[in-house]
Amino acid sequence: MSARLIIWLSLLCVAIPHVLAASTWNKVCTLAPLGDGQDDTDQVEAAIAQCGQNGLTVFETGNYNITRKMTWDLASSRIELHGYLNFQPDIQYWLNANNTYRVVYIQDQASWFVVTGHDFHIDAFNTGGINGNGQPWWNYYTTVPRLDGDGRPLSLTVYQATRGRISNFHIQSPPFWCNAVAESQDIVYDGMVCNATNTNPEFYGQNIVPNTDGIDTYRSDKISLLNWDVTCGDDCLAIKGNTTNLIANNITCRGGNGIAFGSLGQYVDLNDDVENVLMENLSMVRLDPSIQPNMGTGVYFKSFDATVNGSPPTGGGGGGGYLKNVVIRNVMLDNVTLPIQLYQTNGAQPGDAPSKYQFSDLTFIGFSGTAQTNTIVDLACSPAAPCPNMSFSGIDVAPPAGQAAKYICQNVINEIGLPAPCNVTGTD
Ligand SMILES: *[C@@H]1O[C@H](CO)[C@@H](O)[C@H](O)[C@H]1NC(C)=O
Ligand SMILES: *[C@@H]1O[C@H](CO)[C@@H](O)[C@H](O)[C@H]1NC(C)=O
Ligand SMILES: *[C@@H]1O[C@H](CO)[C@@H](O)[C@H](O)[C@H]1NC(C)=O
Ligand SMILES: *[C@@H]1O[C@H](CO)[C@@H](O)[C@H](O)[C@H]1NC(C)=O
Ligand SMILES: *[C@@H]1O[C@H](CO)[C@@H](O)[C@H](O)[C@H]1NC(C)=O
Ligand SMILES: *[C@@H]1O[C@H](CO)[C@@H](O)[C@H](O)[C@H]1NC(C)=O
Ligand SMILES: *[C@@H]1O[C@H](CO)[C@@H](O)[C@H](O)[C@H]1NC(C)=O
Ligand SMILES: *[C@@H]1O[C@H](CO)[C@@H](O)[C@H](O)[C@H]1NC(C)=O
Ligand SMILES: *[C@@H]1O[C@H](CO)[C@@H](O)[C@H](O)[C@H]1NC(C)=O
Repeated sequence: MSARLIIWLSLLCVAIPHVLAASTWNKVCTLAPLGDGQDDTDQVEAAIAQCGQNGLTVFETGNYNITRKMTWDLASSRIELHGYLNFQPDIQYWLNANNTYRVVYIQDQASWFVVTGHDFHIDAFNTGGINGNGQPWWNYYTTVPRLDGDGRPLSLTVYQATRGRISNFHIQSPPFWCNAVAESQDIVYDGMVCNATNTNPEFYGQNIVPNTDGIDTYRSDKISLLNWDVTCGDDCLAIKGNTTNLIANNITCRGGNGIAFGSLGQYVDLNDDVENVLMENLSMVRLDPSIQPNMGTGVYFKSFDATVNGSPPTGGGGGGGYLKNVVIRNVMLDNVTLPIQLYQTNGAQPGDAPSKYQFSDLTFIGFSGTAQTNTIVDLACSPAAPCPNMSFSGIDVAPPAGQAAKYICQNVINEIGLPAPCNVTGTD
């Protein structure tokens, strides 16, 4: 690990917001669900308006029926969410662009619930959080095309927030991304369970829960992701443009694509600069394939190439920037398809110009477990931006029985520490 990263980590310890004891609040709001058939949105908004700044808001256990978009603007406050915000699965209502927020710039994604402000703590005690009622959404999209920016709402959006903490929070059945954090600083997520699991037997064996990413991070500094358990059909964590000083520790990813850095370079006029990321104690768990057929990678890195093919949110490319100083340590893999991957051809077409997006200084330490194919590492850097400083140690991932492990390093300037020579010819 670089000295720079260690210095930054010691700074993080003083950045965690502290929590005041209940007795210190002079405003306290307590609410309970109104009950079946009733709409709780008004009383939730009223409680946050009254106690969301310099106050304590206590949600008793049970389901709060939320029927429209909602922003919590919090300041110096604490939320005790013992129950679930239950977002009604009225698909056509939410798909009307007037009924969600579009605050997450990247890919123009929609949000039905935004948390903003500063110095807040939301604790859901492992008994509450959000119910996204995703199953009808997943069913619906088996017959309707899915596109980025099509209005499927992401469940919990933290936007323009500073010094916030979210603890012991469960998000059940997210229709789309479980979390996003954008344009925020000093946010700690400690204890997050996201679970996108199809339970409709009609679709067993298929991944009908794509785009249920655990979190996407964008334009944010000093984000901590601690103690996460993500069951999904896409990226467990997705680190996107201008994420800096991110730490992730004790993350279990069940199914999906694994942990992504990207896509990067989607917007031709915007650099995506990502640096200083430390992830450790990661576990990738392959699920019963009738429930979730994919367990793609441990970690993977992807950029668009240098040709613009269409425009965001669905197309794009041609964007620049760099990703550097990323350390991934202590990773347990259960039969993943490809443990470590990097490619710079996302959305590419034949004849495109090679990517100029620059990856460098990646460190992989202590990868164990099993892979489903014999390629353990596949770095396909761009010929227009070869990768310096690819460092490995303790890479001990077993390929399928009877096969020899393969390591591929295309356009890699210098690699150290793989257990066998890295093939510069590659196959990709
Ligand atoms: C939520 O509130 C609406 C009224 O706005 C009602 O029609 C619906 O039945 C309620 N849902 C639940 C689960 O109570
Ligand atoms: C959204 O709201 C605007 C302004 O009220 C209205 O003109 C437009 O028709 C609405 N769009 C939809 C899809 O309902
Ligand atoms: C996710 O939800 C499914 C379906 O309800 C359940 O079977 C599974 O145990 C849950 N996974 C976790 C990690 O809680
Ligand atoms: C790791 O995170 C999980 C929740 O995802 C939690 O149950 C477990 O206690 C954590 N482990 C440690 C050592 O903190
Ligand atoms: C990232 O930060 C750089 C440097 O401040 C800036 O030029 C670029 O536009 C930012 N990119 C995004 C996606 O915000
Ligand atoms: C990661 O796990 C190892 C072994 O369980 C433990 O010693 C270490 O403290 C963990 N790292 C962090 C940052 O908690
Ligand atoms: C790995 O996963 C594949 C596909 O689900 C399965 O066929 C194979 O038996 C698994 N191998 C191991 C060692 O679990
Ligand atoms: C590669 O790593 C060395 C040693 O940390 C550093 O001095 C050098 O600047 C790095 N090169 C690039 C191009 O990042
Ligand atoms: C490298 O990979 C190429 C393409 O798969 C293969 O033909 C070649 O034999 C490999 N070289 C070594 C040294 O393994």
